[in-house]
Amino acid sequence: MRKTAITWVLLLLPIIGNAAEYQQIANMCIACHGSTDDTSFPSIPNLKWQNKVYLTEQLSDFKSGKRTDQTMSKVAQLLSDEDIEKLADYFYKLNHKGSPQ
Ligand code: HEC
Repeated sequence: MRKTAITWVLLLLPIIGNAAEYQQIANMCIACHGSTDDTSFPSIPNLKWQNKVYLTEQLSDFKSGKRTDQTMSKVAQLLSDEDIEKLADYFYKLNHKGSPQ
């Protein structure tokens, strides 16, 4: 399971550098984290349950090294602060359409 997930990253990491649109980055996140359906992998948290501030903080922490994970630390280092903001917003809205932030 974990090996499959890591293969995904290796395949998809180059997309981040070229992505003009964060939607393409989000699609990569969804490959591991799932979207509105159930999580793709039982060991990976589904981001739709988290609030925006939490998501932003976790991604910033992975990026800065405050929180570490074999996979997410590598992923987060490729994201700009703007990407983090947009992705947190995107995943928050998956399950909170129309509610105040
Ligand atoms: C290869 C699979 C994979 C990809 C791709 C991936 N993640 Fe993750 N992500 C994980 C795993 C595994 C964890 C759990 C890490 C841990 O246990 O600390 C995680 C944790 C997280 C967390 C913390 C969740 C929590 O409940 O604390 C956030 C936020 C997150 N990922 C966001 C993203 C975003 C945004 C992207 C796309 C830019 C992304 N991830 C891409 C595997 C992945």
